[in-house]
Amino acid sequence: MQEAEGTYIMNILLLGSGGREHAMAWKIVQSEKVSHLFIAPGNAGTAALGTNLPIAAGDFPALKQAVLDYNIDMVVVGPEDPLVKGVADYFASNDDVKHIPVIGPGKKGAQLEGSKDFSKQFMMRHGIPTARYMSVTGKNVHDAVAFMKELKPPYVLKADGLAAGKGVLIVNDFYEAVSELYAMLEGKFGDASKTVVIEEFLSGIECSVFAVTDGRHYKILPVAKDYKRIGEGDTGLNTGGMGAVSPVSFAGPDFMQKVEERIVKPTIDGLVQDGIKYKGFVFFGLIKVGDEPYVIEYNARMGDPETEVVMLRIKSDLVDLFEGIANENLDEKEIEIDDRFATTVMLVSGGYPEAYEKGKVITGLDQVHDSIVFHAGTAEKDGQVVTAGGRVIAVSSYGATQQEALRKSYENAAHIEFEGKYCRRDIGFDL
Ligand code: AMP
Ligand code: GLY
Repeated sequence: MQEAEGTYIMNILLLGSGGREHAMAWKIVQSEKVSHLFIAPGNAGTAALGTNLPIAAGDFPALKQAVLDYNIDMVVVGPEDPLVKGVADYFASNDDVKHIPVIGPGKKGAQLEGSKDFSKQFMMRHGIPTARYMSVTGKNVHDAVAFMKELKPPYVLKADGLAAGKGVLIVNDFYEAVSELYAMLEGKFGDASKTVVIEEFLSGIECSVFAVTDGRHYKILPVAKDYKRIGEGDTGLNTGGMGAVSPVSFAGPDFMQKVEERIVKPTIDGLVQDGIKYKGFVFFGLIKVGDEPYVIEYNARMGDPETEVVMLRIKSDLVDLFEGIANENLDEKEIEIDDRFATTVMLVSGGYPEAYEKGKVITGLDQVHDSIVFHAGTAEKDGQVVTAGGRVIAVSSYGATQQEALRKSYENAAHIEFEGKYCRRDIGFDL
C-alpha cells in the first residue's frame, strides 16, 4: 500500500466472473484510490480493466497466494459461493493475510443467503416482515402437511440450501405440492433440500434493495428491479436475470422509508444483536404487498443483473465506501447517487436457461455508442471474444427517463451479434 496525499493507493482483488463483477470492476477502477485491479477468474470484459488471474473464486489457498504475490490490499467478493464456503473466515484465520480486509461477510453472516431456514428464523427473531413459514425435515412432515392445509394455494416450497437459483417451487395444486415436498426432502436438490421451507404465497411486485454495511453502520444503494423470466411479459423459465432498471417507479421515498425502518435497520441491528460481524453487501429481495414491503429473501452479495444498473447510479467513490466497511467508519462516508435512470438488457445464448452452445464469436462490440457493455459470460479465444455462458453481455445505459435509457440499450444491443443471440424486448414494461 502506498500513501499519496492522505489517500491509500491499493491493489484490489475482485472475485468472480460475471456481469456483476465486470460492472464492479468498471466502478472500482474509476477510483483514485486504486493502483491495480486483479480479477479471479474474471472474463474477457474484466481483462480490459485489470489483470485476470486464472484462479477459481473458491480456491482459497490459491487466492491467498495471489494476495501475497501481487501485494493485494483488499479482497472484494462478487458471488455467494465463496462467501458461503467461508472465504472471509479463511483470510481472517491465516496469519499472513488476516490484515487484508475482505469485503463480504463470513460464513455465519452468509447464512442469510446460504440457509432459508436460518434467514426465516433471523427475520422472526428481529420482527422483520416476511411471509409466514414452517421449516420441514424428514421428522415433521405430518405437521408440515397440516400447515399447508392452513395456507391458500399456490404453495411455496424452498430448498433450505443453495440450489443454483432453482430451489424454489411454486405449486398450485395441494396434492402436487405435498408430492414435491417429499421429493425435495428425498433429495430433489441434493443436500440443499434436506430441509424445506414452506411459505405463505405473497402477491405483489418485487424489487431489489441493496445496502453496504461495516457491521454497525449502513448505506443504502440505489433500488433496482430485475426481470427473471426468459419470456416477454414475465413468462417461461426462470433465468439468472434478463435485464434490470433503476430507479424503480413504485419504490418511491415513502416506500423506501418503510424499507429502511422496518427492514434494513432491523437487519443490521439484528446482526449486531446476534453477534454476527457482517462486512459487505446485503441484498434484500423485497415484495410490495399493497403499500407494505416484505422480505422474500436475503442475499449476501450484490444482484446480477442489478449491479449492472446500480453501479451506474453510484456517483461517489465505491472504493471509499469499501474502506469505510474495512475500517468500520462507514458512518463518516457519503454516498452520492446519480439522478439519471439506468437500464440494462441481457443478451443470452439461444436455448438458455436450458442447454445452449458456447464458443460463438461475438461481433459488433466496437459499434456500441453511448452504452456501457458488461461481459457476463465471455472468454477470449484466438484474439476474438466468444460466448462462454448462458448470459453473455449486459448492455447498460443512462437516460433522463427510463424510456431513453432503454432505447439506448436496445439500439446498442442490436449492434452486437453472435449466433443464437436472444434478449427480452420488454425490460421495464411493467413500470
Ligand atoms: P427466492 O429464491 O426465495 O428469491 O425465490 C425465488 C422467487 O420465487 C422470488 O423472486 C419470487 O418471485 C418467488 N417467491 C419466493 N417466495 C415467495 C412467496 N412467499 N410468495 C410469492 N412469491 C415468492
Ligand atoms: N438478480 C437476482 C439475483 O442476483 O439473485
